[in-house]
Amino acid sequence: MKKFTPLLLIIVAACTHSHSHTDYRAYGGNAAGNRYSPLSRINKTNVSTLQLAWTYNSADTNIAKHEHEIQCQPIVIDGILYGTSSTLKLFALDAATGKQHWQFDPFKNKRPRINQCRGITWYAGRLFYATGSDCWCVDANTGTPVNSFGDSGHISLYAGLDLNHPVEGLYVTATSPGIIYKNTLIIGSAVSESGDAAPGYLRGFDARSGKLLWTFHTIPQPGEPAYNTWPKDAYKFAGGVNNWSGLSLDEKRGTVYFGTGSPSSDFYGGDRPGDNLYSDCILALDAATGKLRWYFQTIHHDLWDRDIPCPPNLTTIEYNGKKTDVLVQSTKDGLVYVLDRDNGTSLFPIEERPVPTIGLPGEHPAATQRYPQKPLPLARQTIADTDLTNISPQAHAFVKNIYDHTTNAKSPPDKFLPPDTLGTLLVGYSGGAEWGGNAIDPAGIFYQNSNEAPWLLKMISREDRQKQAAGNANLGSALYATNCAACHGANRKGNGHEIPDLTTVAQRLRPADIASIVIHGQNRMPSFPQLSEPQRAAIINYLLGKQNPSRPPGNDQPLTAEHRDPTNFPYSPPYTSRVWDKLTDSDGYPGIKPPWGTLNAIDLRTGDYRWRVPLGEFPELTRKGIPPTGMESYGGPLVTAGGLLFIAGTRDEMLRAFDTRTGTIVWQYHLPNAGFATPITYEVDGTQYIVIAAGGGRGLPTGGNYLAFKLPGTK
Ligand code: HEC
Repeated sequence: MKKFTPLLLIIVAACTHSHSHTDYRAYGGNAAGNRYSPLSRINKTNVSTLQLAWTYNSADTNIAKHEHEIQCQPIVIDGILYGTSSTLKLFALDAATGKQHWQFDPFKNKRPRINQCRGITWYAGRLFYATGSDCWCVDANTGTPVNSFGDSGHISLYAGLDLNHPVEGLYVTATSPGIIYKNTLIIGSAVSESGDAAPGYLRGFDARSGKLLWTFHTIPQPGEPAYNTWPKDAYKFAGGVNNWSGLSLDEKRGTVYFGTGSPSSDFYGGDRPGDNLYSDCILALDAATGKLRWYFQTIHHDLWDRDIPCPPNLTTIEYNGKKTDVLVQSTKDGLVYVLDRDNGTSLFPIEERPVPTIGLPGEHPAATQRYPQKPLPLARQTIADTDLTNISPQAHAFVKNIYDHTTNAKSPPDKFLPPDTLGTLLVGYSGGAEWGGNAIDPAGIFYQNSNEAPWLLKMISREDRQKQAAGNANLGSALYATNCAACHGANRKGNGHEIPDLTTVAQRLRPADIASIVIHGQNRMPSFPQLSEPQRAAIINYLLGKQNPSRPPGNDQPLTAEHRDPTNFPYSPPYTSRVWDKLTDSDGYPGIKPPWGTLNAIDLRTGDYRWRVPLGEFPELTRKGIPPTGMESYGGPLVTAGGLLFIAGTRDEMLRAFDTRTGTIVWQYHLPNAGFATPITYEVDGTQYIVIAAGGGRGLPTGGNYLAFKLPGTK
């Protein structure tokens, strides 16, 4: 490396100063993922004057219809802001003006394969992000793929998964960005959660060449530790156990920390008896080799899809008079774990208590589950009749009628009621905590938005499902003939070029993706808003029923794991969900008493709450005299040294600033569309900016805007 003379150093420093900037260099702000910025020009005394600085519209002008949510938390490197559009175009902007430098279209001349993109990874002038099963490496200066990386600028996210499953064609993408350790890009995956789920192994790739360096088997292979927490051949057919939620890194320890999701299939584990390590775990791996350091399982033998939803946070707190490096993990079921970063032991006591063990035929629910004693849960844990909505007598009666026909009405409240065919009501599926994650300030205060939405789960046996599907297929084929056959053909084969073949659609799209295309349209495919939800479902069943690999016809495999033929993959689980829906009142509000969404501040040194306030407001309910209820939020908080917490994420389309000491709202702004994303902050030439993606979606109007805010009178 070239040596500078002291004089030159001074000049260099001065030059940097004249274009000074404080960046936001990584998803979550830094490798510790704390969504905290030391910037304080915008603070409690002046935030009320915050105003729009610039708007950048990332929307594709040639695609009018198919715009949806933008979940991307952008990054800022050397005064350049990098983000993605809802159709996964990557762009670079001047962070001070919003002026576009370049835009990269990964789907040039190809039909888009849209997945959520929550962020981008920076490494030495390169940007990494995933579209479908590709992970791209794009030159940050030019916006063109780095040809020397992988296969002309991208690698396949199937790499390293192919051990036992025929993975090609299965759903594999990455919704959260990877993380960099030295020259290694460590990245997780989003996979299916049914009988066709690919295994969610974590991979480390060479960030320079794209070469696969290591694979950590989140589902252990023979000879690996924890192999015996599954039946003998499970590694050949089980999938999931993936890190879709992102990672954190301790550079000094050389340790990467992350959480995993549930094992496949969701809601039925009769063919996977055991604790199913490393599902629903917080894991610590040697970032250089992918070797396990420790694990901590939050849910044994998951039957509720209680994935770890966000990257853990790393911080140092004074606990019992001793400075301790900790990891903080919030969960979908509304719990907060504070673990010693060296060994994964909890700072606060955790009880392991007996839970209900009678499940569906063939099921083996775990005998005990974990209950952290502190911090107290972010959201309620169970649903009893006393929890049912009280916003009006009509709302209560509507929900009570549904409740009375569920297992909850017949048993003591328990968050671990195993799924059954009558129906169970649960919280903790759409949060508690969600993918937006949380923020921690240097004082050790932890900030987390939390959802409280009740869901109704009813299971159905394979036999009953087949009977139901036969009925549906008739309806589905009739609806297909009247709505779709004109273009896609009576034989569903399309026309060989611009109209796709739908006989193979199951290999490319999940039911939810097809539903979204039918609702919104896509390119030259029209939208069908006139089709009701059951009609749409019937068409989708019809399209998938014939050839959906997860539901092979006439599959009458014995149900027990002991007799399960591991070559039968993808397979049809003996039980799947028949109803899996939010429980709402007749007006669509959550079926339980408010709050439905909160913002929380917890002092990690004591585990005590500093404050807890509703997040989001339905103005029409406020007008009726109902105190703010809060609402579901998607997207996390940003905390600054200015004593402020910025958060959007709510359906009321607001971006808000809260006083971090008190939880009071000190500024709010009605976004052009809802901001289902996490804001960032940075400074260029003495001006501090707050930026958020406001893409709308989730049934609300959509748009492609990124908005930047600054104080008046600044450049
Ligand atoms: C007016 C012609 C037309 C009609 C009617 C139509 N489609 Fe399409 N469909 C298209 C075109 C064109 C595309 C390709 C869109 C693109 O390029 O993104 C498409 C794409 C699709 C896709 C995505 C396939 C893939 O592999 O990406 C699905 C699924 C689909 N259509 C389902 C349906 C269903 C279900 C109906 C009836 C409710 C329907 N379509 C009616 C023209 C049509």
